[in-house]
Amino acid sequence: MDHHSLRSRASQETLVSTISQVSLLEIDPTPMDSPTYSPYDKDLPPVPEESLSDSTHSLRSNPTFSSTNTTTSLGLSGSGHGPIYYLTRIQRYSSYTFGLFASLHLATTSIIPLVARSVPSSESYLLLAREIYQTPLSEPLLVGLPIIAHVGSGVALRLLRRSHNLKRYGRGGHQSPNGKKNKSGLGGGGWPLFSYIAASGYGFAAALGAHIAMNRGLPLYFEGDSANIGLAYAAHGFARHPAVSWLSFTALLGLGCGHMVWGWAKYLGVAQGAGWHLERHTGNVVVDTQTRKKRRRRLLVINGVSALAFAVWAAGGLGIVARGGETLGWVGKLYDGLYAKVPGF
Ligand code: HEM
Repeated sequence: MDHHSLRSRASQETLVSTISQVSLLEIDPTPMDSPTYSPYDKDLPPVPEESLSDSTHSLRSNPTFSSTNTTTSLGLSGSGHGPIYYLTRIQRYSSYTFGLFASLHLATTSIIPLVARSVPSSESYLLLAREIYQTPLSEPLLVGLPIIAHVGSGVALRLLRRSHNLKRYGRGGHQSPNGKKNKSGLGGGGWPLFSYIAASGYGFAAALGAHIAMNRGLPLYFEGDSANIGLAYAAHGFARHPAVSWLSFTALLGLGCGHMVWGWAKYLGVAQGAGWHLERHTGNVVVDTQTRKKRRRRLLVINGVSALAFAVWAAGGLGIVARGGETLGWVGKLYDGLYAKVPGF
């Protein structure tokens, strides 16, 4: 046996033993666990059969680069990043630009009306802000694409993790040695656990989709632009269709504030340790009591910040704009015509 094939054999053996260790890794259900580094951000190594056949194939077909290829394909070298690494980052960074838009929107739809105490005198600030986020370039870059990227990467991560879970544990899920179902990682059918952040994200996406369709899609489609649309359009909707307006705006603000605040808490690394109950008991009463207190404090603080964000947005948005009353004249008729296009209005 020559020197080269000895090296290949050695790397194959290392590979087999490493695979048996890494295949015992649990798959975390959540896309991102810490602000700086998380082992879960890394692509999971391929399942044993796949990686073995892939690696032996590459060992045979390309002896010169065999060891480099195998370690990279296993994700052991740390240099090769795969889909999970990139998707978690797309999900994270896309939320930054939406956060920028959300701050501007909070200012013009709530803070300014709250300070000005009137809808008409707040309109000009909304128009001014539109110059920033509603240009042919900024609207897709700041709002449209980030939302698509954020939700799309979340869905892709979910599907990818499910396929990893199924390959590793099958449909029954991972069983711990005592035969109990693993509570931390897997939902049914191999699906990653559906966290509250993810659930609020889907709710928020639906509410935001409806909001964008009403305020941007409808005028663009029927009027060609949304030049006549502003705070008065929303106020008119509240005056003419109170039930559906209150319901939809309350859901939009509640889900949006909850999702964004908890999302940020997760990216800052504080959401992970929040909860009402202890995740695991150490057996030491003092340590357990302290940990429980800390977890509860975090839970209360994050929920408190979410409630505060909701209250601030609602104070101007629902307290001032929603009570602005209907618009009279031809603009009022134009608004009625637009609302009439929506089934159920
Ligand atoms: C500042 C803005 C935002 C932040 C900080 C943020 C943060 C997050 C985080 C941390 C997750 C991961 C959830 C998990 O690990 O379980 C997530 C998921 C999600 N987000 Fe957001 N998000 C933001 C804006 C949005 C917007 C504007 C939408 C919708 C239009 C949205 C929809 C979703 C959806 C649907 C998911 C679930 C993906 C999945 O796991 O299946 N998010 N977001």
